[in-house]
Amino acid sequence: MKELDNLNKIKKIDNDGMLEVEENFYKQLVEAKKNFDSVDLVKVSGKNYKGIVFLGMGGSGFVGDIVKSLIKDSSTIPIEVVKGYSLPGYIDKDWLVIPVSYSGNTEETISCINQAIKRGATILYITSGGKLEQMAIDSDACIIKVKGGYQPRGAIGFLFLPALLALKDIGIAEISDKEINGALSHIKELAEKFHRNVETGKNFAKQLACLIGGNLPVVYGTSGYLSAVAYRWKCEFNENSKTPCFWAEFPELNHNETVGWQRLISTTKEFILIVLRDEDENMRIKTRINTTIKLVKDNFSEIVEIPVEGSSKLSKALSAMYIGDIASVYLALLHGVNPTPVKKIEKLKAELAKLD
Ligand code: F6R
Repeated sequence: MKELDNLNKIKKIDNDGMLEVEENFYKQLVEAKKNFDSVDLVKVSGKNYKGIVFLGMGGSGFVGDIVKSLIKDSSTIPIEVVKGYSLPGYIDKDWLVIPVSYSGNTEETISCINQAIKRGATILYITSGGKLEQMAIDSDACIIKVKGGYQPRGAIGFLFLPALLALKDIGIAEISDKEINGALSHIKELAEKFHRNVETGKNFAKQLACLIGGNLPVVYGTSGYLSAVAYRWKCEFNENSKTPCFWAEFPELNHNETVGWQRLISTTKEFILIVLRDEDENMRIKTRINTTIKLVKDNFSEIVEIPVEGSSKLSKALSAMYIGDIASVYLALLHGVNPTPVKKIEKLKAELAKLD
């Protein structure tokens, strides 16, 4: 029996149930969509915003990355993502500020919110509670309150979908109901294919984890939604599998990283290159990727190409993200690591809290 097909063993390692969270990702999206129906957006609607800025760190910060990548090409106003303590000087009262923090207590996000409040910007809070919820109540602002009890990165459906639906409702995101429903059906299909009950021989997510094995993953995306997704893969390998992981995006990586693989070959021979490939990539990107693979193939233990399919950009983005999310959990379990706890992140936050 293959390691990841020993269900008793993986249940024992996965003490806090991260695999179940991933297996239920489709249900999370359905629940998030249903909950969104009762959100009141009156306070953020009907304004001519100069721009939209997402605030957030880590798992919550990814919401801004992915939403921006999905809507920026059709948006007539700038969509920004701020991951840090300070709000750019050009963000003023005419901007919509969307702070996303699952815990509601992330200090960088709170620092930017305070600056946004001072400048009189409109704020749409997305959180499960904490200080952000209190700030929303105190300032009588619009809030999308999501279900608590998850790790922030495991609550991505609860955080991401309402952000996108809110921007659709206020006329900034051009996403049809057909695209949303199509994306959800795609995730449902994948969740069935990647479920723990499907044995390794037929389960691509388990196979990918086995292929990575003891190697260090390097993930390549392409500028646009696959850049956001490649970064998400890196973060999920870090946080779930507790492994180092690096990422980069085409075409930029062709102007630097491509030559960087020349030295340290005995080290990089223990790296595996994972390339996310949109089935509709244009000829120039296709040529770049195919040529790069040829140029660097001897520097890695292996190169895996992940075909990204879907009937819309949303469907492709969510499904590509999902493959990495669930494979990172299987990789943790393969190595006997509980994917849920992130003790070092908690220690850091505790140290910083002492400064208050
Ligand atoms: C932990 C995780 C982290 C947090 C980050 C910010 O699961 O994903 O990356 O998302 O430390 O915390 P929140 O999301 O509570 O604002």
